[in-house]
Amino acid sequence: MRGVVALSMLSSSLTSLTLQSSVARSTVRPATSYLIQRFHRTVNQSGSLHPKSTRSALTVSASLSSMASSEKARVPPALPAPAPPITKFNIGLCQLKVTADKERNILHARTAVEEAAEKGAKLVVLPEIWNSPYSNDSFPVYAEDIDAGFDKSPSTAMLSEIARLLNITIIGGSIPERSGDKLYNTCCVYGPDGKLKAKHRKIHLFDIDIPGKITFKESKTLTAGETPTIVDTEVGRIGIGICYDIRFQELAMLYAARGAQLICYPGAFNMTTGPLHWELLQRGRAVDNQLYVATCSPARDAAAGYVAWGHSTLIGPFGEVLATTEHDEAIIISEIDYSQIELRRTNLPLEKQRRGDLYQLVDVQRLSSE
Ligand SMILES: *[C@@H]1O[C@H](CO)[C@@H](O)[C@H](O)[C@H]1NC(C)=O
Ligand SMILES: *[C@@H]1O[C@H](CO)[C@@H](O)[C@H](O)[C@H]1NC(C)=O
Ligand SMILES: *[C@@H]1O[C@H](CO)[C@@H](O)[C@H](O)[C@H]1NC(C)=O
Ligand SMILES: *[C@@H]1O[C@H](CO)[C@@H](O)[C@H](O)[C@H]1NC(C)=O
Repeated sequence: MRGVVALSMLSSSLTSLTLQSSVARSTVRPATSYLIQRFHRTVNQSGSLHPKSTRSALTVSASLSSMASSEKARVPPALPAPAPPITKFNIGLCQLKVTADKERNILHARTAVEEAAEKGAKLVVLPEIWNSPYSNDSFPVYAEDIDAGFDKSPSTAMLSEIARLLNITIIGGSIPERSGDKLYNTCCVYGPDGKLKAKHRKIHLFDIDIPGKITFKESKTLTAGETPTIVDTEVGRIGIGICYDIRFQELAMLYAARGAQLICYPGAFNMTTGPLHWELLQRGRAVDNQLYVATCSPARDAAAGYVAWGHSTLIGPFGEVLATTEHDEAIIISEIDYSQIELRRTNLPLEKQRRGDLYQLVDVQRLSSE
């Protein structure tokens, strides 16, 4: 990623170049001070920091800033989406019923992935917490130490094996992960070689309280992840979020700025938030960022402690619902065509129209790693 970043900075203005070297020298700097410095540097084109600027320098800066305004709306500047290995392929969303029997859940998921691949899916997505009931009491019992190897993690062992056997990419929904004395809600991505390509730990924990409707505090048992996850796969550059992560539009914007073509959110909304927000949020993330969004929920079990809304869905870059389902078990197969992203972005060139002089999205980690 680093090389790509440097390249994109090179192709932008001289000002950015000077900036990049200055950022590289100091390892971590708060975003705000970076922005202030950036402002001064824009004012003084020779690149050195000067607190006071003359009127003529300001005039130069004004015309420069309107030219580069859209580019400045993403800090660091947005990366172009890479040319995907394939532009058209089928995605499979496996909306599975989850039981208290973990072994059965693993076998069941395996069968569903096989069926999706048989129907032509090159990318298969599983639901949030597919190997365990969705309850904070179950998380510690069903949790697996993913980093300790397949002996300690039968769920990911299955995902790796089946990805390799079927020659597909799997976004493995999520399972409770044990790491030291901590528990995470974790999504593993496996490539067609069976290798773990990425691991996303849910960043935003689900702590909500709507009196009389729903109270759930994931943070009682789980720890939040610390990094956004974006991964280059055989089927494009994919950003990962888990359930509640979908509510935070900044994360989706950040993935788009890093060149994502698709964002996958395994998720389990419930009967209160599902009908109100599930589709709305997915369409919002897709249409704002002009990319594909895929979600995968567990099937509804009315007898479960947590009743999932279901309705796994694929949304296109124009905010259109391309495929969806009700609440029963289902395997959705639908086509993703990345040329649609190009088309929408050409028709509606939001990327070039942003007002970086009025607002900016700062990718804090990408900035401090430069
Ligand atoms: C810009 O920086 C150079 C070098 O430090 C300095 O000589 C010049 O006066 C500065 N210009 C402005 C407009 O601040
Ligand atoms: C799970 O959450 C419920 C309600 O928020 C709480 O009463 C219970 O103690 C929690 N269980 C664990 C294991 O944290
Ligand atoms: C795996 O699939 C890719 C296309 O997605 C194909 O090019 C490759 O030949 C396949 N590999 C095997 C071992 O079937
Ligand atoms: C939503 O989930 C919570 C927590 O599991 C549950 O107590 C509540 O009954 C659910 N609400 C609805 C409307 O399903």
